[in-house]
Amino acid sequence: MPLNEIERRLHACEAASRPLDPQMADRNQLVKAVTSYADDFLNGLPGRKAYEASGYGAEEADAALVPEESGTDIHALLEFLGQRVDGPGLNPASGGHLGYIPGGGLPAAALGDYLAAVTNRYAGVFFAGPGAVRMENAMVHWAGGLVGYEKGFGGSLASGGSMANLTAIATARNAMGIKGRQLEQSVVYSSQQAHHSVPKALRLTGLGECVLRQVPLDDRFRMDPAALRQQVQADKEAGLHPFLVVANAGSTDTGAVDPLGSIADIAAEQGLWLHVDAAYGGFFLLTGHGRRIMQGIHRADSVVLDPHKGLFLPYGTGMVLVKDINHLLRANRYEANYMQDAREQSLEHSPAELSPELSKHFRGLRMWLPLKLHGLAPFRACLEEKLWLARYFRLRAQAMGFETGPDPELSVTYFRFVPHGGDADAFNQTLLQGVQRDGRIFLSSTVLNGKFVLRFAALAFRTHRHEVEVLLDVLRSLLKAQGMEIQERAPTA
Ligand SMILES: Cc1ncc(COP(=O)(O)O)c(C=O)c1O
Repeated sequence: MPLNEIERRLHACEAASRPLDPQMADRNQLVKAVTSYADDFLNGLPGRKAYEASGYGAEEADAALVPEESGTDIHALLEFLGQRVDGPGLNPASGGHLGYIPGGGLPAAALGDYLAAVTNRYAGVFFAGPGAVRMENAMVHWAGGLVGYEKGFGGSLASGGSMANLTAIATARNAMGIKGRQLEQSVVYSSQQAHHSVPKALRLTGLGECVLRQVPLDDRFRMDPAALRQQVQADKEAGLHPFLVVANAGSTDTGAVDPLGSIADIAAEQGLWLHVDAAYGGFFLLTGHGRRIMQGIHRADSVVLDPHKGLFLPYGTGMVLVKDINHLLRANRYEANYMQDAREQSLEHSPAELSPELSKHFRGLRMWLPLKLHGLAPFRACLEEKLWLARYFRLRAQAMGFETGPDPELSVTYFRFVPHGGDADAFNQTLLQGVQRDGRIFLSSTVLNGKFVLRFAALAFRTHRHEVEVLLDVLRSLLKAQGMEIQERAPTA
């Protein structure tokens, strides 16, 4: 093709692609429309439900999801978002979200994300983004210090707890030198309370073929260390190769914290890699209670924390920490000729060497900005409040006649109503449906010792005493509607 024809085409392409880089006046209009949408959303939260069952399913609306050749006005797009995306289903931004493990959504983190996306700083490799990498590493170092790690540890920010568990388990396999031919003799210990991302990570790393032991639990759903020791010894005597134990620092179902110190003793004595899943519980280390209950966590070979849970960040931020950074480096090492300049000019480790990712979201900024802007004190207070809310709710639910679990270890507790006659599981399922239909509060359920129970999980930063009172009102009316007689006693501690 002649040069002038190429020039003509370049000119046409440049002109046609110009909307991708709007100039200030257009940008300001876009930002104004988006921030005004965000303001309406946030201002409207107190009146919004935590769960909206209806409002999705109209097929013609889904046509709006498909990109077309020409663009659409921002206001029309925001209207669609409001109706079709931010309306139906669970509203994780609501303080009424008390189901599963609530995530966050701090406004300051959203602003960090905005800046990260606008500047598009490359946080994968030090050479390309030294400031961004340093910021991510600083977040990892701060969290490692919180766990009690001293020199020589490393870690990286992941998209969530599941990916962080996967990275930790892949690192454990690599560090413990588990070869394919040894899989059937190698043993992994966890418990029935392990999050499902743990067995998933074992499968993804090829460890699904190992012998997988579920260590018995005590009456508070914590791993029984004596049973663990006995099982490891029995397995060794049978010629098997125990190599990994996965403990919980805050299980999803019940908030159980395993006796980490005793498990660390066994891991050290038996030569096991100890991984602690602290995705839910980890940031309670910012509280005195959390530090007491998670004593021994610093002895773990790897730990997973979820800043999108306990630091109230938006979804998409997990963290893996490994006590000896060399294990993480070995597990994630890569060779690529085209990266040779980057390697030579590195003054500190890069996330690309410490995680499976290369080009990735600059997650450090959404974490650093709120932590620095607000300081740690409000985070600490907010976590402490969640611990108290779980205790408060349990006592009030008990006083209303609910059967409850033990004094909560963290901010998850469970409960159920046992009617005088009939099927208690079915009764509680109906109760849960009633709560979800009401929608002001969202609860989820689980099965413990074969019984259907309701869960109360306080971790959303907008959950305060008001939301607990609303939940108690909802439960009271549902019980009355079912013909239950409630004689509310004064709560007893
Ligand atoms: C204990 C625990 N581990 C791991 C995970 C998985 O984390 P994520 O949902 O961030 O992938 C969760 C999620 O709730 C969890 O509670």
